[in-house]
Amino acid sequence: MSNQGKMDCGRRRLIVATAAVGGVGTVAALIPFVSSLLPSERAKAAGAPVEVDISKLEPGQMMTVEWRGKPVWIINRTKEMLDTLPKLKDQVADPQSEKEQQPAYAKNETRSIKPEMLVVVGICTHLGCSPGSKFKPGSDEGMSADWQGGFLCPCHGSTFDFAGRVFKAKPAPTNLEVPPHVYLADTRILIGEDKKGA
Ligand code: FES
Repeated sequence: MSNQGKMDCGRRRLIVATAAVGGVGTVAALIPFVSSLLPSERAKAAGAPVEVDISKLEPGQMMTVEWRGKPVWIINRTKEMLDTLPKLKDQVADPQSEKEQQPAYAKNETRSIKPEMLVVVGICTHLGCSPGSKFKPGSDEGMSADWQGGFLCPCHGSTFDFAGRVFKAKPAPTNLEVPPHVYLADTRILIGEDKKGA
């Protein structure tokens, strides 16, 4: 009985010690995270505009930056990619983006300021998953043989073309959103503002 009592005491001490280490560990993990956010990073997280250097973005490449906690894709579209857009106008749900998922300056066939450069929020307009790129035309990347290239949302199968336009009869109700943005120079984009120096 007394042996049993000693064992319980030992176990209790072990449990208390583990809990204390766990507690200290949690606090220690939180402090560096909070203090590592510089004022500019905190502003970014809160929604400040984000300046992006696109000078290294080659034709056919895509980069992702974070704005207001959302992924924003910047895609330097090749002529081949752009050539698919007019061919798909009967297959996409809202070819002219009548539902206003972009600022007025991107309301055109390419949904962009510069024809080759697409800037779009990479969040599916159905339930918010992040679509994946399926740039290769045809069935090599698991798409149908007549696939022209674009994006597939793996959650419920919505597909989007190289202008972020959703295909007909898919769960996503609208095209991908184009965020406000402006060119500060040929190779610098400000995402989150549309006025230079604003
Ligand atoms: S969240 Fe993209 S298809 Fe449902």
